[in-house]
Amino acid sequence: MSELSAKAGTDAFDTGVSPRYAAAVRATRAAPDRTAMGQARLDELVRLATLAPNSHNSQPWTFQVLGPDRLMIRPDPTRRCPVIDPDDHHLFLSLGCAAETLAIAATGYGMDASLSWRENPDDLPCAEVTLKDTGCAVSPLIHAIRYRQSTRSLYDGGLLSAEQRHALRKAAEGGTATFHLVEDAETKTRIRDLIIAANTAQLRDRDFVHELRDWIRFSETSALQSCDGLFARATGSPTLPDWIGRLIFPLVLRPATESRKIASQIASSAALAVFVSRDNTPKNWFQTGRAFQRVALVATKHGLKHAHLNQPVERSEYHSDLGRVVGARDGRPSLVIRLGKAMDMPYSLRRDPHSVLDTSG
Ligand SMILES: Cc1cc2nc3c(=O)[nH]c(=O)nc-3n(C[C@H](O)[C@H](O)[C@H](O)COP(=O)(O)O)c2cc1C
Repeated sequence: MSELSAKAGTDAFDTGVSPRYAAAVRATRAAPDRTAMGQARLDELVRLATLAPNSHNSQPWTFQVLGPDRLMIRPDPTRRCPVIDPDDHHLFLSLGCAAETLAIAATGYGMDASLSWRENPDDLPCAEVTLKDTGCAVSPLIHAIRYRQSTRSLYDGGLLSAEQRHALRKAAEGGTATFHLVEDAETKTRIRDLIIAANTAQLRDRDFVHELRDWIRFSETSALQSCDGLFARATGSPTLPDWIGRLIFPLVLRPATESRKIASQIASSAALAVFVSRDNTPKNWFQTGRAFQRVALVATKHGLKHAHLNQPVERSEYHSDLGRVVGARDGRPSLVIRLGKAMDMPYSLRRDPHSVLDTSG
């Protein structure tokens, strides 16, 4: 039995949450309905696309239906995070993650999804998806879509196998992003020091802390109400009444404690991975998002967890040092993740797909 099917028999979605929260996770992360037709099929593809990783779980997208086999994935500017993401880098990366997920999900219906980038002189750029019934093979990554999660716990300290390393590298191929898999202790330490320095700078920025606080759902009640944002327990923190959480959050976030936490997380991880976008443009960030989601799904399929340590890509003063450490002379460092084995953490929710679907044509 594969690791995923073994997992399907257990209660991954019950991990660390109440039965009510688990029921919401199960509905959000239901297995693909391979019998859906017509509009129900598009709804299903959108539901699966929204399970993609995205910055702060802000879900910064809308899906405009243009016809039975055409969709536009558009950024939702009302869900921007202007402090952490002033140039919409994370936003377009998140759109790329959703687009890649939709393309993988479409193979469940024997459909190929071709993605075209659309620049808009008067609006933000977006991506057009054209679906074609080709009877293509179902992607081996389709089952991982619902089980992938950002797992922010300590990992088991084990190393990558040769098979895992090869699969991760292969998954990152084929776009404009470069992928740097770092397993040696010296380079990991140099990246760790940049992450800690950038994290410390972020924690000293009041606007950053307040923006982050506004996306945290401190209680199950608020997580279930909004179905977005960072559920406290999915970040490894206890749940609290929201008013207490909001009050104490800026006080408990101490640079020294957070630095120790980051160091332990990295020490427990099998590898770090840095994605570098070839050009510093929304189109390239979108491409990087696609590559990242392929890597995240391949990792999930191979029993590996991942979590982000993006601090040095979120502070431009660290870009050149990070690029130098991984040997990337050009391009923009776009993501830093860690990889390794760990138990499941509580899963994050998503909004109802109908609230991000625009069927007005
Ligand atoms: C562009 C981007 C940036 C992200 N940055 C961070 C980060 O700095 N720290 C973190 O813990 N998670 C980060 N994440 C992960 C998201 O918070 C996560 O995908 C979201 O909360 C949904 O949860 P899930 O991945 O478990 O489905 C990032 C994801 C994306 C796509």
